[in-house]
Amino acid sequence: MENFTIYNPTQLHFGRGVTDTLGKTIEKYGKKVLLMYGKGSIKRNGIYDKVTEQLKLAGAEIIEYGGIKPNPVFEDVNEAAALGKKHNVDVILAVGGGSVIDSAKITALTIPCDDSAWRIMIKMAKPQTAVPVIAVLTLAATGTEMNPFAVLQNVQTHKKIGYGNPLIYPKHSFLDPAFTFSVSREYTAYGIADLIAHALENYFGAGDASLSDKFVYSIIREAMEFGPALLDDLHSYDLRAKIMYAATNALNGLTGYGRVVGDWGVHSIGHVLSLLYDSPHGATLSVAYPAWMKVVKEKDPGRISELGKNLFGTTSPDDTISAFENLFRKLSCPLKMKDLGIDEDKKDEIIDMMKKNKVDGAHFKLSHHDIERIVGLMYSGNQNIYFA
Ligand code: NZQ
Ligand code: ZN
Repeated sequence: MENFTIYNPTQLHFGRGVTDTLGKTIEKYGKKVLLMYGKGSIKRNGIYDKVTEQLKLAGAEIIEYGGIKPNPVFEDVNEAAALGKKHNVDVILAVGGGSVIDSAKITALTIPCDDSAWRIMIKMAKPQTAVPVIAVLTLAATGTEMNPFAVLQNVQTHKKIGYGNPLIYPKHSFLDPAFTFSVSREYTAYGIADLIAHALENYFGAGDASLSDKFVYSIIREAMEFGPALLDDLHSYDLRAKIMYAATNALNGLTGYGRVVGDWGVHSIGHVLSLLYDSPHGATLSVAYPAWMKVVKEKDPGRISELGKNLFGTTSPDDTISAFENLFRKLSCPLKMKDLGIDEDKKDEIIDMMKKNKVDGAHFKLSHHDIERIVGLMYSGNQNIYFA
């Protein structure tokens, strides 16, 4: 096991009605609040009203930045930061899924920094401080509510990249599973695929960390047991709660302690599809993971067998991969490029962009030949059904 330090300063408030104390929490950080949100779901499902009522109770001055798109772009962050600077905001309240919270995190660094959001992302600027971020999570998927990461796109330079900085852990995150009732069946499923993928990215990293492996199995088992049931009962509080808590734990550090590094090759494959075709993040991962495993099983069949033994009662790498395909199928997640609406004629463009963006894993290195095979399998693979 490798040395590690655990540092996670986010206070997580989980459960029904937790935002009833949001105003009191915000008050501690100041009166001028930059409220950031997405394309309008929070106005349709009543969350906007609940949150602004809390802000009014706290006597806060609200400065709004709405309209952040899924697969968020740095331009929105620059604009939000300009607004935050102009009003000299004390705190940022991010209400939404990963796209909104990630945008808020980089806005928090950009406001006090004399540089642009993208230069921070590419580490050309080194922020020394951040405006505090408080998050109200409305979609269970990314784990951003309890981690120091943010992911943004730059369409001009064809990059979708992740960034990490301890300054951007949310100070508080409020997770009311009932706030996720209105998430569509599709996005609920993509969120479950994403949490499974986060557990797997850490599992396939380097280094021996047996307890972290067991956390991985438990998190994926939770998704296997409750994910399909949730898709049949989108308003079940208990099922929403189980998936929401699993998603937080899949990427808050727990599954990675004691390893040298996670892999993250599948995420870098998925980011290219989101960049080129605006595909939803989780949907890219259910297509990429089985294909990636089919190539990686030749490099390390033992690691895949171990996963199969602990999750599906098989030691065969092929059966393990089929079981994952079957799981994603049960979750109504895409398995092929065609399911993402990406035609065969895009294949060369995708491979070129993956090579240009140096798609790779931190542990399992991908050659150009591997990338070509993975993309080929994403078009034609994923045929087997493990069990009905
Ligand atoms: O924009 P609005 O109107 O809010 O609608 C959103 C959006 O259309 C909607 N939605 C969110 N909450 C809802 C809701 N609809 C109804 N009811 C609700 N309660 O869902 C759609 C998707 O939202 P988005 O925030 O894009 O989804 P997600 O949470 O999956 O975030 C994806 C982004 O996070 C990044 C991804 O790359 C992607 O850009 N990631 C961030 C990570 C991190 N910071 O640690 C790690 C992840 O691996 C991931 O890369
Ligand atoms: Zn992810």
